[in-house]
Amino acid sequence: MTKSKLAIVILAAGIGSRMKSKKSKVLHPLAGQPMINHLVKTINSLEPDDICVVVGEQKNDVAREVYPLPTVIQSERLGTAHAVLAARENLSDFDGDVLVLYGDTPLIKFDTFHALLDARASAIDPAVVVLGFTPEDPNSYGRLIINKKGNLESIVETEDASNEQLKINFCNSGVMLIDGNVIWDLLERVDNKNTKGEYYLTDIIGLAREHSRECIAIKGDCDELIGINSREDLAEAEGILQDRLRSEALKNGVTFLDPKTVYLSYDTQFGQDVTIAPNVFFGKGVKIGDGAKINAFCHIEGATISAGSTVGPFARLRSGSEVGYGVKVGNFVEIKNSTIEKGAKVPHLSYVGDAHVGSDANIGAGTITCNYNGFSKAKTVIGNCSFIGSNTALVAPVSIGDGAVIGAGSTITKNVSSDSLAVTRASQREIVGWAKKNRDENASQKVKK
Ligand code: UD1
Ligand code: CA
Repeated sequence: MTKSKLAIVILAAGIGSRMKSKKSKVLHPLAGQPMINHLVKTINSLEPDDICVVVGEQKNDVAREVYPLPTVIQSERLGTAHAVLAARENLSDFDGDVLVLYGDTPLIKFDTFHALLDARASAIDPAVVVLGFTPEDPNSYGRLIINKKGNLESIVETEDASNEQLKINFCNSGVMLIDGNVIWDLLERVDNKNTKGEYYLTDIIGLAREHSRECIAIKGDCDELIGINSREDLAEAEGILQDRLRSEALKNGVTFLDPKTVYLSYDTQFGQDVTIAPNVFFGKGVKIGDGAKINAFCHIEGATISAGSTVGPFARLRSGSEVGYGVKVGNFVEIKNSTIEKGAKVPHLSYVGDAHVGSDANIGAGTITCNYNGFSKAKTVIGNCSFIGSNTALVAPVSIGDGAVIGAGSTITKNVSSDSLAVTRASQREIVGWAKKNRDENASQKVKK
């Protein structure tokens, strides 16, 4: 590996017009996280000596997202070479190599960066090492022109390429490692005499060759190097990342009954022997303990599900849901900002919001915590080993003591003490024989069909 110091410049000032979006392109999410953050996470683990993110004017949103990384503003969007030059001021004390990355190419892996650093340290002392790849459709990428020695001679953008050059499918990913001794000199020589009238970073290859410096291209993996310019590219990158996340989970001991139908977040955490049935969505901030089972068609975000619990089918766990050991959350149950202690059961058709459900409590079908009065939210506390009969409305703030029983169909507005029975429905009345008498009296009037 090279002994040079390393600075990383991420270009993220482009307007991303092909996304047709009000949002900065690099903030569009992949697996629940802005695409640029995927890149930032990988490069942080490279431990560079310096980092600078180039953002456009009115792109405070990007600067905020990457904070505390230092940012610099490229006030006019004049091309990728111009964008790297904008970072110069921030790196003025820096004398090592510079790795340039594009914020719209976020799926590169740590090992690939290392291959690049190794190539830079090779005996021919290349001025630039470019990470190339062979995408299925090369048309939105610059073509890598390889000379007879097998080294890189130049890069030609699609718009400026001849018909012969367009046949080349070895393309520029945008990732370049550049000798720190020559980078600024090369960039200053770049002009904008091309079809787009932009200062192309890719021109530094031809310029380095004019000074007899060698340049090389190494080949990377297509799935890591996809550049995201459009919503179609975004969808393709999402597919690649989802496959990657699922295969990591499988390797770590998770069973997916139908992997392709499970959507994961960048931060979904699984214990061992977790089973996930088909069609499950995981939003941000989900942690699942050993041996838990998630049945089909669940939507889960911001939730911790402890070991040995089962959830679903058709359950929705929203943010702040803490599901304890061995809990059962059944079908058509919604839980929000609530703790369900160990062994408790919420088996069917319930809404549990802003609540604390004690251990081994049983929440009957159709129980609703009425946590909102139209203005503010209030808390429901349900004691350990309590039994809430079906179709109960618990009007918060309200507290049910340990071991209490609530009769089915009650609307509970006052606290219930431990071990009590509370029931609010009207008492049952029975009139013996009434139904038969009624039938007999009305039989003669029955309309024949
Ligand atoms: C670029 C490369 C192309 C390569 C492709 C890989 C150039 C001239 N072309 O093309 O060879 O195959 O990426 O995906 O470099 N940006 C700025 N300021 C600017 C212009 C761009 O910060 O003035 C940033 C963008 O935010 C983006 C990156 O640079 O993150 C690349 O710009 P983009 O316009 O997407 O370049 P491509 O046409 O994709
Ligand atoms: Ca691009």
